[in-house]
Amino acid sequence: MGRSIQLFWSFLIFLTCVASEDCAECSDASSILHHKTMGRNVRPHHHHNHHHHPHHSHPRCRKPYPFIWDNDANYDDTLAFLYLAHSENLDWKAITIESDGMGTPHGGPTNIAAVAQLVGLGDVPIAMGGLSSLSPIATMPLQWRIETDEFFERQFESGILEMTDKAIVDETAPQLIVKILKESECPVVILTTGPATNVAEALDMDPSIAENIQGIYMMGSAYGVPGTNNVYDWQMTYNGVKGSCTEDGGQTYTGLSPPLLKDGVKSAIRPECRGVDMTAHGDTEWNVFMDVRAWRMVYGFLEPSPADVYVLAANATLNMPVTLDEMEEYASTLADEDLRVFVIELAKAFLAAGEAKWWDAQCAVVMDQVLSGKKIGVCSNWAEQKVTSVSLVWRSNLTDGELNPYGSIKDDEDAHAPPVDYCLDGNVTQMWEVYWPMVNQTG
Ligand SMILES: *[C@@H]1O[C@H](CO)[C@@H](O)[C@H](O)[C@H]1NC(C)=O
Ligand SMILES: *[C@@H]1O[C@H](CO)[C@@H](O)[C@H](O)[C@H]1NC(C)=O
Ligand SMILES: *[C@@H]1O[C@H](CO)[C@@H](O)[C@H](O)[C@H]1NC(C)=O
Repeated sequence: MGRSIQLFWSFLIFLTCVASEDCAECSDASSILHHKTMGRNVRPHHHHNHHHHPHHSHPRCRKPYPFIWDNDANYDDTLAFLYLAHSENLDWKAITIESDGMGTPHGGPTNIAAVAQLVGLGDVPIAMGGLSSLSPIATMPLQWRIETDEFFERQFESGILEMTDKAIVDETAPQLIVKILKESECPVVILTTGPATNVAEALDMDPSIAENIQGIYMMGSAYGVPGTNNVYDWQMTYNGVKGSCTEDGGQTYTGLSPPLLKDGVKSAIRPECRGVDMTAHGDTEWNVFMDVRAWRMVYGFLEPSPADVYVLAANATLNMPVTLDEMEEYASTLADEDLRVFVIELAKAFLAAGEAKWWDAQCAVVMDQVLSGKKIGVCSNWAEQKVTSVSLVWRSNLTDGELNPYGSIKDDEDAHAPPVDYCLDGNVTQMWEVYWPMVNQTG
């Protein structure tokens, strides 16, 4: 009880802060927002060529920002959605689904469509992503992907979610992203909480759209803090079959590959992940690992753009595990009974998939706070304006302690990349203070 009153008060303060221009806690918020709406990029843009950005100086461009959410329909994306739906910073233009992430290509879009309906955003166009990663090596463990669909099906059966596909459009995800960025009078905010394939494909289809991105927020990478790799060897196995990471990058679809002959002389396939034990030698994070080339392309295409780039690195979320006790405790503060049940069931399913952290939901809250001018908040430590490269180099013959460079992101002055602000540490207390009251508006 004490906690809910405390939450209520923090929420009031939060609302006041968002609503008021001269609130002491947001003293620099209005100036940042002013710069944003005027399209002036305040950061030093060494060695970048600036083009003319007519859209940015448009006087009508102010909050809420046109917004595209690109995601892979995972449990943490769903947690992000419950929060984002109520943000006053966002004018929802599209939801694009990554087919090469956690959600299955067929299940992800309709699962998110059902959640969209639950949170009152059932009319936002949803587009399905291309079936393959641009650099296919591994997919999320197949078992987890199937279990995610099963979780959503149970919600349909119990009537908590309603099956729907009416918001799903004919365009592909990259086509829809291009269309929105070309047509939007005001610069668009993009949040990508998946492998970033759709955003990379959109930029590849029409690089000029980068001009109309105000900011892009990405969940991923093991940047900044050694040892934060979260791609593990045990995740490459399903039903005793090593199959999540193969030589030909298969498994992008949900079909099972035949058993690999681990010790058989005739096997053309190396054990583990192309011969590498990722637990011991990985230096990456799943959203990057699933499409390293997409991340590299996004950075490359954004180098000459006015977009502000923010990445929530794995370390920021290490102290934010999803735990059932905590979910039950906080879910009890939710007024809507269906929502309460949904959140708890979601936590159970998420926890059954091995490692469960707040990842995408944390990234969503950090984005929302940055858009409100509150850069230090749920993100408590930023490595700012880092020029970094995304490595495509794979090495499989590694000595003890040596890391496979593939999917690692490192400082590199010569990188073909924009300066990126990396969030490296998260504030759990603040996360709970702002997340739950916002979610409570559903129902
Ligand atoms: C990484 O996260 C931990 C908390 O999990 C924190 O103590 C540490 O300071 C973080 N590192 C950086 C560089 O922010
Ligand atoms: C692997 O590395 C070791 C030591 O660096 C070397 O002796 C060996 O020949 C390498 N094996 C292959 C297959 O490249
Ligand atoms: C984390 O957030 C809480 C509550 O908003 C705040 O009191 C505390 O100072 C923050 N801690 C850090 C390290 O920023």
